[in-house]
Amino acid sequence: MKEINKSFYGVPVLKNASISLNKGECVGLIGENGAGKSTLIKILCGAYKKDSGQIFIDGKEKTINSVEDAQNLGIRTIYQELSLFPTLSVAENIFINNEITRNVASKLSFLDINTMRIEAERILKDVLSVDIDVNKTIENIPFSQRQLVEIARAIYSNGQVIIMDEPTTGLETKEKEKLFNVIYDLKSHGKTIIFISHYLDEVMQVCDRIIVLRDGEVVIEDKTAHMTLDDIITSMIGKVVDNHYPKEKMELGNTVLKVENLSNVKDFNDISFDLHEKEIVGIVGLAGCGKNEILRALFGLVKWQSGKVTLNGEELKFKSVKSAMERKIAFLPAERKSEGIFAIQTVSWNTSIAALKKIMQGWKLSLRKEKLITNKFISELGIKVHSPSMLISRLSGGNQQKVMLSRWFLTDPKVLLLEEPTRGIDVNAKVDVYNLIMRYVKQGNSVIMVSSEEGEVLGICDKIIVIHKGSMVATLDREKTSLEEIKRYSVSAG
Ligand SMILES: Nc1ncnc2c1ncn2[C@@H]1O[C@H](COP(=O)(O)OP(=O)(O)OP(=O)(O)O)[C@@H](O)[C@H]1O
Ligand SMILES: [Mg+2]
Repeated sequence: MKEINKSFYGVPVLKNASISLNKGECVGLIGENGAGKSTLIKILCGAYKKDSGQIFIDGKEKTINSVEDAQNLGIRTIYQELSLFPTLSVAENIFINNEITRNVASKLSFLDINTMRIEAERILKDVLSVDIDVNKTIENIPFSQRQLVEIARAIYSNGQVIIMDEPTTGLETKEKEKLFNVIYDLKSHGKTIIFISHYLDEVMQVCDRIIVLRDGEVVIEDKTAHMTLDDIITSMIGKVVDNHYPKEKMELGNTVLKVENLSNVKDFNDISFDLHEKEIVGIVGLAGCGKNEILRALFGLVKWQSGKVTLNGEELKFKSVKSAMERKIAFLPAERKSEGIFAIQTVSWNTSIAALKKIMQGWKLSLRKEKLITNKFISELGIKVHSPSMLISRLSGGNQQKVMLSRWFLTDPKVLLLEEPTRGIDVNAKVDVYNLIMRYVKQGNSVIMVSSEEGEVLGICDKIIVIHKGSMVATLDREKTSLEEIKRYSVSAG
């Protein structure tokens, strides 16, 4: 791709960006939220049109005006926001909408469901070595499995260039290793892979070369072996980050929330812990261990069968999410696309929706107030957006997450439940989010967070609860534990 330029509403987001990809290599494309990574690859896969610049394949200039053009040139994409059809089965999703579908369909005398199932099972088992029930619909399988289905679909359709936009988000270590093995395998078959990720350790592990984008410009393009982690981070943000976790030691206050012997049998059993004023409690464990269900139970989204939860001495019996919100509990879900974002609405609409009272002027909603409040968050959180009235779906992934955080901070919650609060957010923006969380607990509030990044839990939580197969196997004090210990309990119950 040579000297690619692209602007949205007159704001340039790619400036003479040039990258080259060789046969049989995996190239890491990295940069902060909003740097232009997704935009660049969307131009390559035909989803966006470039304003200027050229694309060459095997030395010949090519025109890519549509997704179909790119498909015909052997370019395959695993998008950042999953693009599976929730109500279709795993098997149907793997085969849908690519040229193989047509070949397979014609070979199989049109949609032979059985053969499709067998093929889908084979790909998932042989290539990715996972057992997924291919008859289940996408909405009925966990997030991490959806990601694998998305990957299976892209590799099955036999492309020359495979673009992976944050493919490991939501995957556990074991699944990641499988994906990395697939990448090594694809490389040995002469395929080219573009790997976009905020997990720089992964990028350094799997990529032969790394390209760093900053504000739409390529700032570094070099062999991974020639770079250090510090070099990469510095070039991404243009300055050195220190104090990655802005944790301050504070005297904890009274008990706010008390969880006693909570069980729903299916997902979690006998969970007990206290949450104090100014405390941040982290809940960790492998995907599917029940940690998310525990968090969701505290917001009334998952029912429990025995045990009790008290908030400031009063027993909580949820009738609905509304009753949780009335008690000043807020919940930030991990799956932005399906659970949080109202895609066809503006940034300011998405910010204010949970706290409409704050933007009332008499009996009417005040758009002026809405804008003022939104602007305050935009500057505090460093949200990259041209104006609060922009559609939220036009923001980069990490910036959408910041808007979601703003939404919940605006409701002045006393207890904030965070599910993977920094998923898809770059290093620098993560620090912004940690600072916000710290400021919020300093005011006497409390946080419970579930995260699959143990480093961040150790970095900002006071107490870390490790869940293994639905049970609490350890409650660790941040000052006395280590990443190794947390990991050991998560994978083996100690
Ligand atoms: N369809 C669009 N309309 C308007 N602006 C857009 C559109 N798509 C992207 N942008 C803007 O272009 C910039 C680059 O966004 P892009 O999605 O490429 O970032 P990114 O590097 O992929 O970030 P992230 O790591 O958060 O996914 C952002 O400021 C974003 O708001
Ligand atoms: Mg992106």
